[in-house]
Amino acid sequence: MNQLPLKILISGQHGQVSRELQQRLGSTAQLHVLGRDQLDLSHPEAIRDQVRLLKPDLIINAAAHTAVDQAETEPELAFAINAVAPGIFAEEAARLGVPLVHYSTDYVFDGSKTRPYTEADEPNPLGVYGNSKLAGERAIAAVDGQHLILRTSWVYSLHGRNFLLTMQRLLQEKPELRVVADQIGAPTWAGTIANSTCALIERWQQGQTGPWGIYHLTAQGETSWFGFAEEIGRYLQASGKPCARIEPIPSSAYPTPAKRPLNSRLDCSRLQQQWQVSQPDWRQALRECLA
Ligand SMILES: NC(=O)c1ccc[n+]([C@@H]2O[C@H](COP(=O)([O-])OP(=O)(O)OC[C@H]3O[C@@H](n4cnc5c(N)ncnc54)[C@H](OP(=O)(O)O)[C@@H]3O)[C@@H](O)[C@H]2O)c1
Repeated sequence: MNQLPLKILISGQHGQVSRELQQRLGSTAQLHVLGRDQLDLSHPEAIRDQVRLLKPDLIINAAAHTAVDQAETEPELAFAINAVAPGIFAEEAARLGVPLVHYSTDYVFDGSKTRPYTEADEPNPLGVYGNSKLAGERAIAAVDGQHLILRTSWVYSLHGRNFLLTMQRLLQEKPELRVVADQIGAPTWAGTIANSTCALIERWQQGQTGPWGIYHLTAQGETSWFGFAEEIGRYLQASGKPCARIEPIPSSAYPTPAKRPLNSRLDCSRLQQQWQVSQPDWRQALRECLA
């Protein structure tokens, strides 16, 4: 960071990505972190009012309706937060002439491709959450302002609700655990997403921008939920803690209200080529998170 501290509006206060962003940007930027108590994203006019009041140099929309199964029964709320709100942020950012960083998801794809998805692949979400996030991407793109839409996957951290924390608990509580082994993707530490976001902000500040638009941003490598659980179990065992026996099962044996893509792999080479920003292997990032 250089010159005057950047004034950054971050939506979402306790979210996984938001917390990691706050840790990294807090000492160099002037942060205005708005949790849902200060800014409820289901109220479009409140978004306009806050942005016009604060006049930030950059907006990071780290908030979202992320409860994938719950979204199936509350589509209006999911669309208000994930589709309408990002479009309003984009309009207000364009009005100020500042960039918008927004996060999206692997769930915009149906998972039927046999290779990792690129940004050129056609989305086809399987559920309400994916559809609402795709609508958010399109609302931002329709404004045609400076924006980065960073699609990520399988986000975890030491805070909030996520697979890492759930597994750490269940593996210690139970003698045996069945975990889905036919969904493939990249577990991505929220710290990795924040690191890459900071690198993108630095590039932008230095005037070395690549094209605005959609980019895939996940950890490198791939595994299944079962493989991720096994890796988490190895850390428990290494620290002398109890660890359940883990049994691989197909998705069909673990039905959920929202269908998940079997292939969640995202090809992140465009981000590396256009912005020279890359991510570590998922195992390395997990090690860093747990350290
Ligand atoms: N979690 C994943 O596995 C995953 C996977 C792929 C993509 N993503 C995307 O990555 C981004 C960050 O996700 P995350 O995992 O950090 O999310 P998260 O931990 O679930 O946190 C959600 C955030 O959204 C905020 N929020 C929810 N409803 C709101 C409302 N009505 N008004 C204002 N704020 C509201 C929460 O606010 P409070 O802080 O006030 O509670 C919280 O900060 C999202 O765009 C998500 O779609 C996530």
